[in-house]
Amino acid sequence: MSAPDPGWALVERGFDPAAAGYHETVMTVGNGRVGTRGALEEGHLGALSGTYLAGVYDAHDSPVVDLVNAPDWLDTLVRVDGMRLDVDSSEIVEHERVLDLRTGVLHRSTVFADPAGRRTRLRTSRTASMADRDLCLLQIEVTPLDHDAEIVIETGVDGRRRNLDRLPHYPDGLDLPPARRWDKWARSTHLAIVDRGFSGDGTAHLVTGTIDSGVRIAYSAAVVPEPSADGGSRLTDHEQLTDHERVADRLVFRAGAGAPVSVHKFVGIATSRDPGQRDAPLARATATVVRHRGAGVDAVRRTSAAVWARLWLDSEVRVQGHDKDALALRLGVYHLLIAANPDDPTVSVGAKSLSGEGYRGHVFWDSEILLLPFYLYTQPRTARSLLAYRHHTLPGARVVSAENGTRGARFAWESADTGREECPRWTPDGTSRFWTREEELHVSADVAHAVDQYVAVTADEQFLLAAGAEIVFETSRFWASRLEEGADGRLGLTNVMGPDEFHSHVTDNAFTNRMVARHLEQGAALHRRLGATAPQRLAEIADEIGLSGAEVDGWVAAAARVRPPVQLSSGVIEQFDGYFGLRELPIESWDDNDMPRYPAGYHHFNLEDTTLLKQPDVLMLMYLLPREYPVEVQRTNFRFYEERTLHKSSLSPAIHAVLGLRVGDAESAVRYFERSAYVDLDDNQGNTAEGMHIAAAAGTWQIAVHGFGGMRALSDRLSFDPRLPARCERLQFSVYWRGDIVEVDLGHAEWIFTLRAAPSTKVEIVVDGVPVVLVADDPCTVTPGGVR
Ligand code: BGC
Repeated sequence: MSAPDPGWALVERGFDPAAAGYHETVMTVGNGRVGTRGALEEGHLGALSGTYLAGVYDAHDSPVVDLVNAPDWLDTLVRVDGMRLDVDSSEIVEHERVLDLRTGVLHRSTVFADPAGRRTRLRTSRTASMADRDLCLLQIEVTPLDHDAEIVIETGVDGRRRNLDRLPHYPDGLDLPPARRWDKWARSTHLAIVDRGFSGDGTAHLVTGTIDSGVRIAYSAAVVPEPSADGGSRLTDHEQLTDHERVADRLVFRAGAGAPVSVHKFVGIATSRDPGQRDAPLARATATVVRHRGAGVDAVRRTSAAVWARLWLDSEVRVQGHDKDALALRLGVYHLLIAANPDDPTVSVGAKSLSGEGYRGHVFWDSEILLLPFYLYTQPRTARSLLAYRHHTLPGARVVSAENGTRGARFAWESADTGREECPRWTPDGTSRFWTREEELHVSADVAHAVDQYVAVTADEQFLLAAGAEIVFETSRFWASRLEEGADGRLGLTNVMGPDEFHSHVTDNAFTNRMVARHLEQGAALHRRLGATAPQRLAEIADEIGLSGAEVDGWVAAAARVRPPVQLSSGVIEQFDGYFGLRELPIESWDDNDMPRYPAGYHHFNLEDTTLLKQPDVLMLMYLLPREYPVEVQRTNFRFYEERTLHKSSLSPAIHAVLGLRVGDAESAVRYFERSAYVDLDDNQGNTAEGMHIAAAAGTWQIAVHGFGGMRALSDRLSFDPRLPARCERLQFSVYWRGDIVEVDLGHAEWIFTLRAAPSTKVEIVVDGVPVVLVADDPCTVTPGGVR
């Protein structure tokens, strides 16, 4: 294994069963289509391996749909003279894994001592190709270090997969040992075997079908033994095995001391839900394997690395002067890049990406509010694809609305393949009721906000005409039918929940009311605009969804009547009707990660009558609509709500960091940056094993760009108001703006902005409040404070 470049490497040294789940998550490899957790190939007690395919969901056996734990393509068993090598039955002499963030390859090297004391090294490397999202690659090398041996490598595709479903309710404080951690969970079955075996060309195949949703999943695998360079080892047998739910190649080698034996495994994956090519998944999977086996391992690695290089060029945030921050940002961006697929407009990114089963792979508002800005400014095609998913799921959103007695489309709080509501009613241990499914309505306004942002930054009118307008109109229509008229003649919303999920059944949540009013204004403005710029297309959309000008006029009138929040003379906005009358409960204790603890006797579900918050609500509003609130008002609210926020969502710290910077509280901003940036690197919420907090990764990117870089999109220009923290020497990133790229290089003594665009293109930006004209390829240096 070549020495890792420390800035780009996530390293595991030694094997600690208690940290296995953490490493499985953070060492996920993927390409936006496939995500495979970093579990050891041979498995071990307490392992939670998983391969997830974007968009493949199923509800068989489970209360709501799961992102299906798809067949395992790593599935490997190594025997040395009949003795199995794994971390449970052999002694581990050395163990190191390195995830190369630059190229998305996970390398492993483990030296085992078997019960007879003989040492054998197992090396593997795995990747999911970025150049061909249908392809995964596993290389296995086994070297008997101090003995001659018969080495058996059995590697295949295993269809015996189950999803975690429910866990029993244990007494508080019961801490199961890591090897037992997942044992007690009820599991659900989503896959049935359809076909398995081997073809004439030697490729293995396993075809499964999801039981309720009917998706066919085909894997094809070619296992190729590599000849030993020096003749120190030789292949003596190659068998192909078929079990009921598994196919495998079994290769037997004779190897001398120090002589490696190795095999390469090419795995092709295709499903019947792949957009644009739903037919013959097995034939497609096999064709993928045959093509890449012919080209060879080096070609697979090279072409994938070339795509990675391009992705990093657009997405990297470089930090100089603070290695841990630099690594945390890289890890986050790596995971964002393997989470989304620009070529599939029918999927979005779940709350745990494709790295674990937390939240059952469901899609939340996280996608539009936390994740979208990252893709919008670095991978605009991917941003478009995420929003296209909302268009694809509009039929489901219409059903959600109709089921609740309203019109138009209401996006599900937890969405999956169809857009129908998939939010469970109960916690996994069955003890507490969630009301988010019924009440967290704001997601529909969040999606509309994201459409607005997308069009402002990309100027992609075509998307608006093809999908965006229909999304905005159908959801405006939902709000118009959901708003309720009060005795004061105003319109409001009862029985809702804002982002702060400690308080349910609330009336007139400030965040939701304002986002709704804005959404209705946006719907009407868009209607007016398209009437002028694309009347024919507008007429088609209006015809399809039965939208009249009178209905749109109603939105304008409704927006003006939405009840404004109570605001104290100090400027503090009341989170919802009656919030100021709730009991104050001080936060008095913080954990080792500097995260606030629940006050004694309190938990997520019994804080309703207190002013404590799970995550920002009023502050979120100011975060999203900064131009509506003077900085002084933002500061007052920041101070008021910050001391009442427990940050029990990983989305919370990033919002506080950006807002903290905006209101001049740089010190707490750095603290919040650490909480957000290190959430998975340090596992500071203790649940990274269930999957990445992908929204926090994107929130961390937002802290770097919108917070430290002070970047905001004004209606027609980008504006920068940098606030580089003292702990960094430099911060560099680049962003797409209407098809061009603006490179930003921030130091403490100067800020350099470079436009990458067609020769002689000019783009105006605003730096520190002053307009600056950038000319393509001509770096423009600004001295902080010097543009005035
Ligand atoms: C947060 C939500 C979030 C969800 C998924 C919850 O804990 O409160 O705001 O959408 O996690 O990340």
